[in-house]
Amino acid sequence: GVARIPLIAGNWKMNLDHLQSIAFVQKLAWALKDAKHAFGDVEVAVFPPFTDLRSVQTLIAADKLELAHGAQDVSMHDSGAYTGEISGAFLSALACRYVIIGHSERRQYHHEDDEIVAKKTVAALRHGVTPVVCVGETAEDLETHGPSAVPMAQLRVVLDALEADADIVVAYEPVWAIGSGQAATPEQAQQVCAALRTTIAEVLSEDAAARTRIIYGGSVKSSNIAGFMNQKDVDGALVGGASLDVDEFAAIARFRQ
Ligand code: G3P
Repeated sequence: GVARIPLIAGNWKMNLDHLQSIAFVQKLAWALKDAKHAFGDVEVAVFPPFTDLRSVQTLIAADKLELAHGAQDVSMHDSGAYTGEISGAFLSALACRYVIIGHSERRQYHHEDDEIVAKKTVAALRHGVTPVVCVGETAEDLETHGPSAVPMAQLRVVLDALEADADIVVAYEPVWAIGSGQAATPEQAQQVCAALRTTIAEVLSEDAAARTRIIYGGSVKSSNIAGFMNQKDVDGALVGGASLDVDEFAAIARFRQ
């Protein structure tokens, strides 16, 4: 089959200002220094607030760090009278490899629905920034519809807007597991990630399903990462709280050790 390089992604949310981000990335780079040789191919990415991106970009470039960076949101528009918005073109100009789209906190606090998430995904792709599309059910959804129905429906709306060869990452984040300390079990994560892969095969193609990375998020830490990474359809993790602790995040990235 296709080898999907695992992605360990740190979503800082609204934490660490641009000065703190510099200190953090320097420490992280040090903690991951021998990583490539020690534990093989893993892609590590940080997702700082917009105001940190230039600092993080400059540091990664200057020190040639094996670290990717991305943003936490993007506008569906490319430019113009959209006060407070950040375009995909701006992210691309700051060498963002990724952008998180449709995180449950944006769906909840900023009323982003599947249509908006789809438009933002298309906007990111237009500018060569790989979208990390977040889907996931609430505790209530889980009770009413079971584990996979809501995330599959959310993803389908996005996939319907894409070309068959679109390069995206999908993040399965059950809302009940985010910041709760109550992670999904590896088996639960596997079940939904497999269902999402089937949805990609149906809407895009078998090839897209085979190469698209599907990662899990929700109370991931160094003590539970291995269980997720042992699952066939889980290709990495989107880490919130634990990504703000350098040693803990580095330990998550070293899940093979
Ligand atoms: O995007 C990652 C996030 O929502 C998970 O947060 O704190 O449960 O790891 P946390």
